[in-house]
Amino acid sequence: MAVALIVAAGSGERLGSERPKAFVALGGRPMVEWSVEALRAVPGVDEIVVALPPGESAPDGTVAAPGGEVRSGSVRAALAAAGDGDPVVVHDAARPLAPPDLFARALAELEQHPCEGAVAAAPVTDTVKEADDRRVVRRTLERDRLWAVQTPQAFRRPALERALDVDDDVLAAATDDAWLVERMGGTVRVVPAPRENLKVTTALDLKVAELLLGERA
Ligand code: C5P
Repeated sequence: MAVALIVAAGSGERLGSERPKAFVALGGRPMVEWSVEALRAVPGVDEIVVALPPGESAPDGTVAAPGGEVRSGSVRAALAAAGDGDPVVVHDAARPLAPPDLFARALAELEQHPCEGAVAAAPVTDTVKEADDRRVVRRTLERDRLWAVQTPQAFRRPALERALDVDDDVLAAATDDAWLVERMGGTVRVVPAPRENLKVTTALDLKVAELLLGERA
């Protein structure tokens, strides 16, 4: 059976709210609860662990873990608090609109292909250029092959455990867990995600998420 880790321990400074971002009200409930509800509807997930900021408690029916200083530190702490489920699906509480089907597709991808990880991702629609420190463009990337990577991210547990067993500076450099698996030589596949799986970072994102939830209802 699979275990799900929700990382909810960030402060969310860019949102400018008093409470940590994952606990800000969205559609009448703390943001993190939308991810918990979606995960409860995913076949094969039998444990949900939530990495928490100080002073917040875990949603009903989930296991609490203390958040880490950096995001992947929170993933490591949540995995340490989990039972022995395998595979592991990691999700950011900051993506409250991820539908159950997306978690299920990431887990299925892992089962159906010889890979260590399967990550939700959206094809890039903007043209992406690399610029130097003086903002001079150095190259234009080939858009057809670019994916903007999101969560959920599903992993075979031994691969994720090995990937997270690194020094704190490596952990701090990780903007997602798949990168940690890639740097160990693991194969990671992308799973196309719906555009609604947005990340709430700013007050504008929160408004858009409210609107999308309203449409769902
Ligand atoms: O800050 P950002 O939105 O990139 O964080 C992504 C996710 O990681 C959020 O759900 C946040 O709560 C979580 N996080 C965490 N522990 C940290 C930093 C971020 O659980 N130390």
